[in-house]
Amino acid sequence: MFGVIGAGTMGAGIAVSLVVAGEHVVLIEPDTARREVALEDIGHSLERLAGKRDDLDVAQALRRVTLGTALAKTKGCAMVIEAVPESLELKRAIFADLDALHGPEVVLGSNTSSISISEIASGLSAPERVVGIHFFNPVPVSLLVEVVVGELTAANVVEAARSLADKLDKTPITVRDSPGFASSRLGVCIGLEGIRMVEEGVASPADIDAAMELGYRHPMGPLRLTDLVGLDVRLAIAEHLEAELGERFSPPALLREMVAQGKLGKKSGSGFYDW
Ligand code: CAA
Repeated sequence: MFGVIGAGTMGAGIAVSLVVAGEHVVLIEPDTARREVALEDIGHSLERLAGKRDDLDVAQALRRVTLGTALAKTKGCAMVIEAVPESLELKRAIFADLDALHGPEVVLGSNTSSISISEIASGLSAPERVVGIHFFNPVPVSLLVEVVVGELTAANVVEAARSLADKLDKTPITVRDSPGFASSRLGVCIGLEGIRMVEEGVASPADIDAAMELGYRHPMGPLRLTDLVGLDVRLAIAEHLEAELGERFSPPALLREMVAQGKLGKKSGSGFYDW
């Protein structure tokens, strides 16, 4: 049994991948409305996957998901994966509770896309069981898991995270704990530059995206991808990377303005595109 903390887009997606692989999941989310949306999203996602897999029974898979509000419900899980918003303070509070709740043999993973695993783990009684298990949106069809190795992460814990990726039919890459890891550092770079290009009137979002989709064969251009990931999420990562790596990651004014206006991308109905 696996615990997943946070039922936003990523937590719900991780839950889908786990139940598709036959695992049971306890999904913890204190917000009632978000729990309801997550359950709906999980159902839709399973339906889409069932369309191309004979071995997936949607009703049975849904029964393998238990929703809850308290971290204590994860007691008995072999691994718990945190997927809450990108705030070190919030993550540290959750990991402190999980550390107290679970014996040292239980692996604690974080789906953080940029926060230091060593900082999340610092001060815990068993920091060696903390590892980055970074999934990609949309999780059910993404092929990658970035396994992030903190200063104290034990080798068997890295192996457990890599084995989980294999079990979910995804490929693990192993990355040292460094700002933005491998994927966010490169992905955010292209995303921020795309936004600066819109700001400067270089081309429309659709034309900038076409440049990368058709010219470079990216499955999705940087602006559509920013809408998919969420402009607020992109902003938080950019601010963190700016603090860690310098001004080349400083968020464009347009990104800040759009977030302030509630244009968060797909989840809010509008961003660089209308959804
Ligand atoms: N659940 C289940 N299945 C899903 C799904 C979901 N949530 N989303 C898409 N799919 C399936 C669709 O059903 C479809 O299946 P078929 O091919 O069998 O019909 C398939 O995936 C492709 O989807 P679509 O036909 O809707 O559209 P598409 O071919 O344009 O692909 C995409 C959409 C999968 C999102 C693709 O554009 C893509 O991979 N884009 C890049 C996404 C990316 O870069 N993600 C990384 C984001 S960064 C991140 O996540 C890290 C971070 O920390 C911020």
